[in-house]
Amino acid sequence: MTNPSQRKLIIAIDGPAGAGKSTIASRLARKLGYVNLESGAMYRALALRAIEWDASFDDEAALLKMAQSSQITLERSIGGNRVLINGKDVSRRIRERDVSEAASRVSVHPRVREWMVARQREMGVGGGIVMEGRDIGTKVFPDADLKIFLDADPVIREQRRLDQQKVKGPSARAMAAELRERDRRDRTRAASPLVAAEDAVVLDSTNLTEDEVLDRIEELVEERLAGH
Ligand code: DC
Repeated sequence: MTNPSQRKLIIAIDGPAGAGKSTIASRLARKLGYVNLESGAMYRALALRAIEWDASFDDEAALLKMAQSSQITLERSIGGNRVLINGKDVSRRIRERDVSEAASRVSVHPRVREWMVARQREMGVGGGIVMEGRDIGTKVFPDADLKIFLDADPVIREQRRLDQQKVKGPSARAMAAELRERDRRDRTRAASPLVAAEDAVVLDSTNLTEDEVLDRIEELVEERLAGH
């Protein structure tokens, strides 16, 4: 590849759950020597806080206060992110099902989103980052150097999630239904719904391997670095 140190790009990867964003973002960041930032982890951390404090997921003011008064830290790293709340590592806990559901609910609130977006912009200062989420190309970094919208057939996305979490039988059906509901909520909410930015490159990973997706994105990175 072109020596990536010459210019530090901001790369936005958006898309629904199970499209492969996290794996791709982390592998791409590693290859480029960039920082990988998983914005969903911040919504998950706030959701966990709300669960712990027994706060309503519908109470925007309370959630915003909670976000402002908790220290939610996404450790900048080249591989995956560690997530800390007030210094406590919650990286594993925030992946559990109750938190996934709650994260999708707390993230519908415009003021909560504004607060998150401001923090995410601060983290991206200077470039050299691959940030993934739902609104990175549309809201967080509308001027990102490269925007990818990674999608896949819903059935494939569900299957990937279930395989990832090694879930089978009746709980697999329940989990698939939850995933569909989260998807619906993320795409239809009024504030920053999940949509591809107008200038995003849409990649459908349904029939592509991870390596193929990564190769395609690396070509696009090359083009951007070369100034196209
Ligand atoms: O990417 P994830 O599954 O960890 O995200 C968890 C939830 O957070 C998801 O249901 C939607 C929300 N989210 C968001 O609204 N905006 C982002 N940039 C990232 C995540």
